[in-house]
Amino acid sequence: MEKLSLPKTKIKVLLLENIHKSAVDLFKRHGYGSVESVRDALSGDELKAKLRDVHILGIRSRTKLTKDVLAAGEKLLTVGAFCIGTNQVDLSAAKRLGIPVFNAPYSNTRSVAELVLAEIIMLFRGIPQRSWGAHEGEWDKTVKGAREIRNKVIGIVGYGHIGSQLSIIAEAMGMQVRFYDVVEKLAIGNATPCRSLDDLLAVADVVTLHVPETPETKNMIGAAKFKKMKKGAFFLNASRGTVVDIPALAEALKSGHIAGAAVDVFPKEPAGPEEKFKSPLQGLRNVILTPHIGGSTEEAQANIGGEVAEKLVKYSDNGSTLGAVNFVEVALPPQFNTTRFMHIHRDEPGVMAKISALFSSREINIAGQYLRTDGEIGYVVTDVIGRVQVGMGIRKDLAAIPGTVRTRFLYEAPRNT
Ligand code: NAI
Repeated sequence: MEKLSLPKTKIKVLLLENIHKSAVDLFKRHGYGSVESVRDALSGDELKAKLRDVHILGIRSRTKLTKDVLAAGEKLLTVGAFCIGTNQVDLSAAKRLGIPVFNAPYSNTRSVAELVLAEIIMLFRGIPQRSWGAHEGEWDKTVKGAREIRNKVIGIVGYGHIGSQLSIIAEAMGMQVRFYDVVEKLAIGNATPCRSLDDLLAVADVVTLHVPETPETKNMIGAAKFKKMKKGAFFLNASRGTVVDIPALAEALKSGHIAGAAVDVFPKEPAGPEEKFKSPLQGLRNVILTPHIGGSTEEAQANIGGEVAEKLVKYSDNGSTLGAVNFVEVALPPQFNTTRFMHIHRDEPGVMAKISALFSSREINIAGQYLRTDGEIGYVVTDVIGRVQVGMGIRKDLAAIPGTVRTRFLYEAPRNT
């Protein structure tokens, strides 16, 4: 007799590294009975032993999930990285083991946009140098060089999640928004797209970067681009450190061509608090330097908890892999009076035919089927009408199909194996 669908109360969730309580609350709200939260990161044998009976694992950036560690999680269904980056996880090993990994790429979008807008106001008022001066006993009470941001032109490079969010709040403050993106984007509100980066640089009173780190964006702003900016304009980078040639920025600031800057990300950032931070921008009084904290707010942490937990619950409850970073994405409708079989396999010819044959040989009617492949793995979800008798051994036969990585099934009221 095949094992019954595992009730949610028996699914073990392990959250490491002090993940925000919002994640625990979400699991509990969805009926998950066993959610353990651990303060620290685990490693080596301790981590492997702890993983043995865990179905859903949550980590942040300090838990290293190597191929070895992942393989020790015999029951591991899915992993949530409660952060932005996922390079602490061997993503291809996880994929080959049939483990989708989820993260929270957009939970801190608003936090970055808010900081950037605040810094723009500070730069236009000359606050960095005045604050510095006041700490040293200066009393620079002049209006010279102190301006409002209203009616000034903000040039946003990269009109993605952060860029477009910033566009809205900058416009609400009365700024005129110009943006440049390599992809055609819908302009929000009264924002106007620029045909080229150079067109944007020529008109902006302040330029702010919100592009990803790619070979094309490496050093995309250097000496030549600073020259194309208006004299006296401001410059901000809270995207990725590699995008800007920092010595060239330091020169442009020293020459007075750029009137001030705010920089949150650097080509080389200290690995931890014990390592000293060094930059050619240090000592320049019109520069705001921040230690890569654009997205670090309490709200963002809470959002990350909810966002990643939601994706893990969706995968566990209905098989949806939308938003997975290492896996084919399948968005699934809710189930109605069906049994849902999930089959992860190596992407080889013939697997689908065998799956279909398995159902038709039992005269089982398929209500819906969802398939995605990527050349390495395939993920097919088959809904069949009614509550298929588990004794029919379908799952066992699915698992016996050559190339199978793992199988799982759910009844209508979501209960997982
Ligand atoms: P996103 O992917 O939503 O948007 C990026 C946009 O840049 C896209 O619209 C893309 O088409 C565009 N783009 C790509 N290459 C370009 C190029 N060469 N020229 C112009 N546009 C280009 O990304 P999101 O979420 O808006 O993040 C933007 C950046 O902010 C990323 O680099 C991310 O790592 C960084 N970030 C920094 C944080 C911090 O703490 N400072 C926190 C969160 C994100």
